[in-house]
Amino acid sequence: MIKKMFYKLLLFCLCWRHLIDGFGSQTNERQSVIEGDSVTLQTDATEMHEEEDILWYFGGEKSLVAKINRETKTFFTYNYVLDGRFRDRLKLDRQTGSLTITNITTEHAGLYKLEISGAKLISKTFSVSVFARLPVPVISNNSSNCSLSSSNCSLLCSVVNMSDVTLSWYKGNSLLSSISVSDLSISLSLPLEVEYQDKNSYSCVINNPISNQTTHLDNSQLCHTCSALDEKSTSHHVLTSAASAGFLLIVAVFGICWVYRKHRKTEGAVDANVTVQIHKVEITYADPTFCKRNAQKLTTTEDTRVEYAPVCIR
Ligand SMILES: *[C@@H]1O[C@H](CO)[C@@H](O)[C@H](O)[C@H]1NC(C)=O
Ligand SMILES: *[C@@H]1O[C@H](CO)[C@@H](O)[C@H](O)[C@H]1NC(C)=O
Ligand SMILES: *[C@@H]1O[C@H](CO)[C@@H](O)[C@H](O)[C@H]1NC(C)=O
Ligand SMILES: *[C@@H]1O[C@H](CO)[C@@H](O)[C@H](O)[C@H]1NC(C)=O
Ligand SMILES: *[C@@H]1O[C@H](CO)[C@@H](O)[C@H](O)[C@H]1NC(C)=O
Ligand SMILES: *[C@@H]1O[C@H](CO)[C@@H](O)[C@H](O)[C@H]1NC(C)=O
Ligand SMILES: *[C@@H]1O[C@H](CO)[C@@H](O)[C@H](O)[C@H]1NC(C)=O
Repeated sequence: MIKKMFYKLLLFCLCWRHLIDGFGSQTNERQSVIEGDSVTLQTDATEMHEEEDILWYFGGEKSLVAKINRETKTFFTYNYVLDGRFRDRLKLDRQTGSLTITNITTEHAGLYKLEISGAKLISKTFSVSVFARLPVPVISNNSSNCSLSSSNCSLLCSVVNMSDVTLSWYKGNSLLSSISVSDLSISLSLPLEVEYQDKNSYSCVINNPISNQTTHLDNSQLCHTCSALDEKSTSHHVLTSAASAGFLLIVAVFGICWVYRKHRKTEGAVDANVTVQIHKVEITYADPTFCKRNAQKLTTTEDTRVEYAPVCIR
């Protein structure tokens, strides 16, 4: 009785097993490749069996691209299928039947299907994604002509004609900003404002799901001109300030001397009130133009108004 049940169970298991096999042990695999590289789709068989035929299909239409007939020991790759899309790009492994697609392009992205027919049907699908080989992003300056009002250098990181990429600015290891594009092939650029004196390390990174390229910002190169001019102009400012301060000092000294002399002259006089007023010392100076390339003269006019309180001497 128990023996009978055991056999029934065994039979059931075998049937079930066979049912699954009959459906085909279907597996899926994803592969990501960079344009120009090769990809190998594995059969997972360590060795092909005598009685098996191996068929490789591509795309929704299931175009046959390769075929191995073990019995006749023949290996075919179909170069002219799909307008010769796979021409000279397909290789079959004579041991395992694995298919290699060399120098892959976006045209070869899609679904591949493997069918091994023999005692049982095994099928396997491969989803192949092809990503562009990434260019190195280009960092350029987009500063308006060096102006004293701005202490920032505007930069742009750009790439041309890309799809499925993200472009990002990093300060050290932290992400500052990013921009993404999916299907469209367009040119991307991402701005960044940095202060001229900023000594942090900035980098622009382009990446897709499988690779990335980085350009480090050489701040001293791109923001150099204005930076240098900035320093010069700052020192110039210091100089002019010092000069005007000196001038005021001289004026003040003269004023005091004059007052002192006047005071001495009127020393004898009783209750003589001497009021000295130095009124509004007005200094106007114009900065020279700092930008060589600047056609429009940049002038800074600053009024230094100094008002002295009346000095009263009794
Ligand atoms: C790869 O394919 C491209 C066109 O798709 C072709 O221009 C190039 O010569 C090929 N490279 C090799 C090494 O076959
Ligand atoms: C570059 O700078 C100019 C003016 O300074 C501005 O109009 C333009 O939008 C900037 N370009 C980008 C891509 O930010
Ligand atoms: C920068 O200078 C160029 C000429 O050198 C001029 O055409 C342009 O208008 C200037 N840009 C700004 C924002 O001043
Ligand atoms: C970008 O793509 C357009 C059209 O797709 C093409 O005309 C242009 O030459 C491409 N530019 C570069 C730099 O590849
Ligand atoms: C200068 O850049 C800093 C960031 O580096 C930004 O916070 C600031 O607003 C910018 N200033 C101007 C005038 O664009
Ligand atoms: C760039 O790729 C390398 C591996 O090639 C990885 O270690 C690194 O984290 C990636 N960087 C970014 C910002 O994705
Ligand atoms: C950026 O480049 C332009 C010319 O390419 C130049 O006129 C401008 O001064 C540069 N700006 C800086 C900050 O170097």
